[in-house]
Amino acid sequence: MSDQVSPSSGSASGAGTVSLDTAHQHGTGGLPAVFENPGLPPHVHRAADDDPVAAKRAERQVAALFVLSILGTVGFIVSYFTIDYTKSVFIPFIGLTNLLNVMLGVTLGISLLGIGFGVVHWAKTIMSDEEIAEDRHELRSTDADRQSVGVVLAASGESAQLARRPMIKATAGAALGLFALPLTVQLAGSMGNPTKALDELKATIWDVPAGGEPIRLVRDPELTPIKASDVTIGSVFHVMPATLMELREHNLEQGHAEYHGVLEAKAKAAVVLMRLNPSEFKDDALGRKAREWGFEGIVAYSKICTHVGCPVGLYEQQTHHLLCPCHQSTFDVTRDCEVIFGPAKRALPQLKITVDDEGYLVAPQGFAEPVGPSYWERLK
Ligand code: FES
Repeated sequence: MSDQVSPSSGSASGAGTVSLDTAHQHGTGGLPAVFENPGLPPHVHRAADDDPVAAKRAERQVAALFVLSILGTVGFIVSYFTIDYTKSVFIPFIGLTNLLNVMLGVTLGISLLGIGFGVVHWAKTIMSDEEIAEDRHELRSTDADRQSVGVVLAASGESAQLARRPMIKATAGAALGLFALPLTVQLAGSMGNPTKALDELKATIWDVPAGGEPIRLVRDPELTPIKASDVTIGSVFHVMPATLMELREHNLEQGHAEYHGVLEAKAKAAVVLMRLNPSEFKDDALGRKAREWGFEGIVAYSKICTHVGCPVGLYEQQTHHLLCPCHQSTFDVTRDCEVIFGPAKRALPQLKITVDDEGYLVAPQGFAEPVGPSYWERLK
């Protein structure tokens, strides 16, 4: 049934327009007739209102859109578990970009749009096509209005034709139900295998492959290697791994953009390097560990704050404190960068260092724990 409905005094008020009383006879509710006809233009019926074939066609179109959403959701999950996150794809006008991100974005978009277009098409072609004009009234509805809301709500299920359209009911339920999955799959993927998730979080370009050479520390941004003798007591260096250059060369060899993945790798690998007098480390387990993982008082720590990831770049030479400028978390270098003030909950991860045959500082292994915000510590 497709009609304009006016809560007016009762009788039909124009072509295709009926009062709510009349509408009630058609099963749309029983609101009191208190308003005059607002003068709505003549109503134009939709094809699906009068033609059962058109209604069936619209139903199939709506169901197809919900099925498209389901396919998008399934595609998202399959992409998440099967696509190698290091793979790239060339997209015209954009260039090389990460394949996994593209697929997750496209499939999630299809999933959302399928539901969105499905609901809109459903409302425009199949749901009851009534127009109701209502004058402003007191904020509190009359008792009769309040009662009638209950009647209208009860009638809305009928008006959406869910009972009579099992195909829409099934596909809409499946599309909406499955749509929650992409939001939970990523979390479940991490929680399901905490060891794997932890390994991925720990992975940086400081990692030395089995049997591989230790990685030289290089100055940032010059990317020149650093000799232990260059690091005087009290000085601070901002450091990157020499593998950063190799990553760029590898990209060019593989035909990727030179900086493909470089910024992400750089963001996780930033390290700050300081030299203390070895006697200044505290004589406790933390102080001894810091000294042993360093070289003659030179120590290297992740520069990414364990609070929410700002660069910890301020070194107080007299107190040997490292300070994060964002929320003032303070780390004590003499005790393995333990947190002594601020919101950070975890010490900065230390990078073990030594020197090679030529006296250059090198890292024989990557970080032993994830760098950055300490939320991930809970996966341990
Ligand atoms: S990000 Fe460092 S204290 Fe908040």
